[in-house]
Amino acid sequence: MEQAKAATSDLIDDDRLDDLEREFVGRVRGRVLEIGAGEGENFGALHLDVEWIGLEPDAERRAELAKRAREWGHQAAPLDAMAEAIPLPDRSVDAVVATYVLCSVADPSVALAEVRRVLVPGGRVVFVDHVAAPPRTAKRVVQRIATPFTARFCHGCHWDRDTARTLVEAGFVGDDVRPFRVRSMPFGPVPTLLFDGHAP
Ligand SMILES: C[S@@+](CC[C@H](N)C(=O)[O-])C[C@H]1O[C@@H](n2cnc3c(N)ncnc32)[C@H](O)[C@@H]1O
Repeated sequence: MEQAKAATSDLIDDDRLDDLEREFVGRVRGRVLEIGAGEGENFGALHLDVEWIGLEPDAERRAELAKRAREWGHQAAPLDAMAEAIPLPDRSVDAVVATYVLCSVADPSVALAEVRRVLVPGGRVVFVDHVAAPPRTAKRVVQRIATPFTARFCHGCHWDRDTARTLVEAGFVGDDVRPFRVRSMPFGPVPTLLFDGHAP
């Protein structure tokens, strides 16, 4: 708890966040599902031994993702699906990764229930995302006001999601949970969460 409190006040820059993201994403092994994989920004961070399965609903991004996946030696074509309805059997993956996706999915609780369904018991999860600022702060007010616009005009991105809480409510257990504030303009530092945990 003390550690979490101390980390909350940690102000970092983009480069440090990039390093941490790579470290967290690089921890998963085995059969790994990456939801909202975008255009494959995480390939450089994933361990070369993982059996990667990508999921990306946006057709243009998925085409680029498929191309880059082949370049990185991943055979499986990315799934054309939403995280809220993952077309994989129960208990079929060892780990799930998502970076900057829980801010965008239509329903994080439904998506996380799906993640739990497809994970083997004890399976690992790594999530990285910008999150809601603490309640009753000016930042939280800005996030609440901005979110209807960002959700509409920035590919469904919500600035005000309390992802740490949603993860706990979905039943995930955090093993290495690091909240940071990342230096940013023009609205000031962005609360950001790195979550490495497991499904019990
Ligand atoms: C901000 S981008 C992040 C892409 C990549 N993960 C990264 O870190 O650069 C959000 C991604 O989530 C995808 N996405 C949006 N809604 C989704 C959903 N319901 N299920 C799965 N992916 C979704 C978008 O198409 C987009 O590729």
